[in-house]
Amino acid sequence: MQYDADKLMEYFSEAPADIDMAELDMERIPHHISCIMDGNGRWATSRGLARTEGHKAGIVSLREIITACVRLGVDVMSAYAFSTENWNRPQHEVNVLMHLFAKTFIDELPLLKRENVRVVFLGDIDALPKKTRDVFEYGLKECAGHTGMVLALAVNYGGRAEIVRAARDIARSVADGSLDIDDIDESAVAERLYTSGLPDPELVIRTSGEIRVSNYLLWQIAYAEFYITDTYWPDFDRWGLVRAILSFQGRDRRFGGLSAAK
Ligand code: IPE
Ligand code: IPE
Ligand code: MG
Repeated sequence: MQYDADKLMEYFSEAPADIDMAELDMERIPHHISCIMDGNGRWATSRGLARTEGHKAGIVSLREIITACVRLGVDVMSAYAFSTENWNRPQHEVNVLMHLFAKTFIDELPLLKRENVRVVFLGDIDALPKKTRDVFEYGLKECAGHTGMVLALAVNYGGRAEIVRAARDIARSVADGSLDIDDIDESAVAERLYTSGLPDPELVIRTSGEIRVSNYLLWQIAYAEFYITDTYWPDFDRWGLVRAILSFQGRDRRFGGLSAAK
């Protein structure tokens, strides 16, 4: 995606000592960057705060990373906000999160408008509390005409559930005669996922040091590069993102073949 060099320089001025922005190859910015935003709870408890304060602080990071991705010309930024397993948390925390998602979408509408960000949701939005759902629908309408970076928010998302949903849809199409069994291929599955039409993530960032996938984009991450940082999500900022991209750019992506250099 196009980026504005002046705005980029402005947003990424005063780099910390370990980062040389000149090393960033703007021709090789990942098209799709995905964030598993983890560590909000630990960030809060390590400060003697309630876990929910960590979720609030995490919104500030999300805003910064969205803006940073727009400045870098990223095509798609996705973020894991709530998994199908997160319903197992205490009711109070779930309630706060559902409220926070709705409030944040409204609060950030000016940013999404200013930056022309297109919003899509990944996950079973219909199963969310009505208030949250209504706000999401309103926000989606407000952003409907946007043509810039896609922000894909995974809310009530589970990778296995997503694949099951696609399998059911394929079975339905076969049963009603609109799809031949021999025509079931990878694209038949991919186009029935929530991410239909979006490129697969090339770079997945997970904060808070956990080295696991936690049921996230299982199909789509087949060849993603992973970047794990010990930083808790509320402390993750534009420079953390640059470090992740520099790490990505230093890797030899072979896709099962041989290195281009060999
Ligand atoms: C990630 O932070 C946010 C959500 C899962 C909603 P956590 O809440 O998982 O924070 P930790 O992992 O307990 O520190
Ligand atoms: C993954 O984080 C889900 C989100 C970031 C929304 P979790 O904190 O729920 O993952 P686990 O339980 O540590 O695997
Ligand atoms: Mg966690």
